[in-house]
Amino acid sequence: MFGKEPTGKNLLDPRRLPAHVAIIMDGNGRWAKRRLMPRIMGHRQGVKTVKEIVTAARELGISYLTLYAFSTENWNRPRQEVESLMDLLHQYLLQEAAELLGKRIRLNAIGELHRLPDRVRRCLKKVMQDTAGNDEMVLTLALSYGGRQEIIDAARRFASLCVQGEARPEDLDISLFSSLLWTGEMPDPDLIIRTSGEKRLSNFLVFQAAYSELVITDTLWPDFHRNEFEQALLEYQSRERRFGMTSEQLLCENA
Ligand code: FPP
Repeated sequence: MFGKEPTGKNLLDPRRLPAHVAIIMDGNGRWAKRRLMPRIMGHRQGVKTVKEIVTAARELGISYLTLYAFSTENWNRPRQEVESLMDLLHQYLLQEAAELLGKRIRLNAIGELHRLPDRVRRCLKKVMQDTAGNDEMVLTLALSYGGRQEIIDAARRFASLCVQGEARPEDLDISLFSSLLWTGEMPDPDLIIRTSGEKRLSNFLVFQAAYSELVITDTLWPDFHRNEFEQALLEYQSRERRFGMTSEQLLCENA
């Protein structure tokens, strides 16, 4: 946990930045409720935070930023809220395509994308194609995403490889299984940030999060600004990542 301390940018060690930061953007509804506004106003404000954090991540030199924008469970929200979220996503893609191109950011998406409305899917595909050659940062939107579904999908893909005689059950290891996930071409997240104080993964990158550092802040997503993002990165840099080893072993490895 951390508060609203002054910017941590100058204190950050650029050599020890996480390669992959993933964020569970939570608290839009509560942000709006506290202001006696409809929930959609919280999501609208949340889009502004998305833009600010994408810019910050790019400027700081983060290679992969993954944002949990819509879960498979979110389809169960009231129809009007789902439609508003799809509209916001569509507008974001239309408005930000040029910005992503200019900043050399590649757009990627993971999830059951076939469930998205046609107009959103077409726009997403176009921006992904247009930015495919960009190499400064990969921005992944998790849309209609569920971590358990992703694992089931990978298991099915491996089973069909076996049926086709292209793999044997004993070939399966963590690296092969990881490569079959929707995130197959990305490293696992080093850091997962969750806003709004909830202390759970909510079906986000459940396989990939095995050794991720978690930073949870009470701040609601619309109030999460660059300053707090940098504080989260600072907190990450203060952690000792042991991956099951002892501190002494790590010292020897890094000597
Ligand atoms: C969680 O807040 C947030 C979401 C379900 C949607 C996140 C979407 C955005 C930030 C905007 C669209 C995204 C992009 C990438 C353009 P909540 O509604 O669950 O908040 P609550 O827990 O306070 O009710």
